[in-house]
Amino acid sequence: MKPPGISENPAGSYAPRKYWADVAEKFQSADAAGFAPVLHPDAPPWFNQLIDELQFRAIRRALAVAEIPPGARVLDVGCGTGRWVRRYRENGFRAAGIDGQYGMLERARAQRTEAPLLAGDACHLPFADAAFDAVTDITVVQHIAASLQRQALGEMLRVLRPGGRLILMELIRGKDGATLIDWFGQEFVLLDRLFVRMVQSLPGRGMRGASTIAASSEAGPRPMVGARRVYWELRHVTAQLSAWADPLAEKICPARLATHGVFVLRK
Ligand SMILES: C[S@@+](CC[C@H](N)C(=O)[O-])C[C@H]1O[C@@H](n2cnc3c(N)ncnc32)[C@H](O)[C@@H]1O
Repeated sequence: MKPPGISENPAGSYAPRKYWADVAEKFQSADAAGFAPVLHPDAPPWFNQLIDELQFRAIRRALAVAEIPPGARVLDVGCGTGRWVRRYRENGFRAAGIDGQYGMLERARAQRTEAPLLAGDACHLPFADAAFDAVTDITVVQHIAASLQRQALGEMLRVLRPGGRLILMELIRGKDGATLIDWFGQEFVLLDRLFVRMVQSLPGRGMRGASTIAASSEAGPRPMVGARRVYWELRHVTAQLSAWADPLAEKICPARLATHGVFVLRK
């Protein structure tokens, strides 16, 4: 997810802490599953449900590639509202989560997340060296300032035991510091992306306004009316069709065409 540029600092640049504090606060009740604060805050619940399903499929695949045994100690960095730690526990892992925002953790607790949840920064993980058998990072490093991303990845590797597994799902960029076991593209959603691009290229403020509104989170959840409603009704079709076709896209398209890459690394 690319953060819609709310929470700008006076210089006009993206201010991550304030951005996540804002979405945690304003969107914590936007949907029952707690997906809105960690996926696309301003999208309707069905869209986030669909994106979650695509991501869950990718994470199941990554866990199978990583061959993490039941009982493994798994840390989810930037755990948000806790969807992965809950699933890791259901898989029999001893899961824990850490996130920079109390608001996210509160929501995770409200979802009856049984795993230990800590407040802390990915760049300074409060754990001993080699404390975990696996570390996961689902769309977190992509939101950390470029100058700090290497430090965050270094921290994930520090707390990972030798031979442990690191799973990243991030916007595709080069990563280093560990051996890549495998990687694959995730979330092709080609038809939906084509539709969004077409809307964005329309002249004037008509439907383009709709897409801009759809991507803005400043005001919290807003009613689906007018152009915004039409925009999301059309995307209901393009997104569902794209999700249905994604398994085929995974097979026939180059991985770099996807919006995210899922990386499995060995320390
Ligand atoms: C896109 S959300 C993803 C949440 C979760 N990984 C998921 O997939 O549901 C990004 C999360 O990273 C957290 N985050 C961002 N920067 C962080 C940092 N430096 N340290 C810890 N957490 C951070 C945010 O608070 C937010 O919960």
